Amino acid sequence: MSDFTSLVDLKNKTVHPRVFVDPEIYKAEQEKLFGRCWLFIGHESQVPNQGDYVTTYMGEEPVIFVKDRSDRLRVFLNSCRHRGVKVCRKDHGNTKIFTCPYHGWSYNTEGGLQGVPQIREAYHNDLDKDKWGLIEVPRVESHYGLVFACFDEESQSLTEYLGSFAFYLDLILRRSKGGTVSTPGTHRWRMPGNWKLASEQFAGDNYHADTLHRSPNLIGLGPDEYRGGTPWDTDFEAKCSNGHGWINFHLPSEDIPPVQAEYMKQLEKEAQEVLPPRQAALINGVQVGTIFPNFSILGFLGFTTIRVWHPRGPKEMEVWSWGLIERDAPPEIVEITRKMQCLTFSPSGIFEQDDGCVWGEITDTLSGQNRINYPLNYQMGAGHGKELADKPGLLHPPSTEIGVFGYHEHWREMMGRK
Ligand code: FES
Ligand SMILES: [Fe+2]
Repeated sequence: MSDFTSLVDLKNKTVHPRVFVDPEIYKAEQEKLFGRCWLFIGHESQVPNQGDYVTTYMGEEPVIFVKDRSDRLRVFLNSCRHRGVKVCRKDHGNTKIFTCPYHGWSYNTEGGLQGVPQIREAYHNDLDKDKWGLIEVPRVESHYGLVFACFDEESQSLTEYLGSFAFYLDLILRRSKGGTVSTPGTHRWRMPGNWKLASEQFAGDNYHADTLHRSPNLIGLGPDEYRGGTPWDTDFEAKCSNGHGWINFHLPSEDIPPVQAEYMKQLEKEAQEVLPPRQAALINGVQVGTIFPNFSILGFLGFTTIRVWHPRGPKEMEVWSWGLIERDAPPEIVEITRKMQCLTFSPSGIFEQDDGCVWGEITDTLSGQNRINYPLNYQMGAGHGKELADKPGLLHPPSTEIGVFGYHEHWREMMGRK
C-alpha cells in the first residue's frame, strides 16, 4: 500500500495535485475515509413516521435510511443478500417491507429477512433466515436533526467526532426553539471535479467569493464584500478538530432585504433564549462549513443549504442538496428560501455554477503530465491563527486558508492510518 502522507506537506503548507486526480488515492479513500468517518445520511424530518424511508449513499454504496417499527433510525446497505440487487428502488416512501425485484426476497424495517419465495420446495426449509438479513451500518446517531452513520464500529461517538465544530453548527441548528426541518425533495446532479474540491472550499475558502462570484454579487445576489462585521469577533474562520472548518461573517446591513432583516432580528431574539450568549451573538451572519469528509452547510439570512459531495470517481462528484429552514418559519420566509435556493445554491444557482465550473477545470489542469509535478499553495494565514476564549478552534479573520489546510491535514492523518 502506498504512503500518501507525503502529499500533504505540513511544513510548507502545500498539497500535491495527485490528491485530486489519482485513481489509486480515490480507491484508498473509499476505505480509509468513507469506511471510517461519520457520513451524513439525512434529516430526521425526512422520516417522521414508522416505515418512512429515504435512499441515499455512503460514499459509493447505496443505503436505505429508515425509521423502524420501534422508532429507531436505521441504515442498511441497499443490496439484497441473495444476489445483491437493490431492494429499494424509490427515492423515498413508507413501507413495512422491502421486496427485492429479482427473486422476491423481502426484508422488514429492522432488516430481518422475512419472506423467501419457494422456501419449502426449493430450499427444503434449510435456509437460515436469521443469518441473511440486510447488512446494517452499525453506527447511526443524530445531532439536532442531522443524522449521520458510520461503518466503523470502533469509531468515536458522533458528538466526539463533531468536537468543537458543534459550537458553530448549532448556530443554525439550535438558534430557534422549534429546530430545523429539511425542505421536501432533493436536488441531485453530477458534475466534473474531485469531491474534495467542494468540501475544502466550504471548510474555509472565503477568499474566492469576491472574485469568482463577482457576477452574482454585481446583480445583488451576493454582498459587495464578504467581510461586513468585526474581525476576530463576528468575522472569522475556524479550523476545528477532525478536519472540520467554519467561516463566519456579518453582512453589511445595507445588503440585507427588509423582510429578512426583520426575520433575522426575531431569530436573534429567540437564540438569546435558547443558546449561551457567546453563540447567540453570532446568529446574524453568513455561515459556511464542512464536516469532514463530505458534508457542507451554508446559511445566510434565514436561508440554509445542506449538501453532500458524493464521490463518483477521482474526477467526478454527485451533489445532493436540501434546503433547511426553521420548523416554525413564516410562509414568506419559506418562499424566500425556496427562491434563494433556486437562484443561488442548486443546479440552477449562479453561485453553484461558478463553483462547479472551476472545480471541473482544476481537475482537468491538475491531470496534465507537467502540472501534476507542482504543488498547490495553502499558505494564506499560516502561523497567524489564534485561539480565543469565547470561540473554539484556531481562528483567523477572513480571508485565510487555515481551515482549508486543516481539512487536508486531517485527510493526511486518516489516509496514513493502517
Ligand atoms: S437478488 Fe434479491 S431475491 Fe435474488
Ligand atoms: Fe463559492
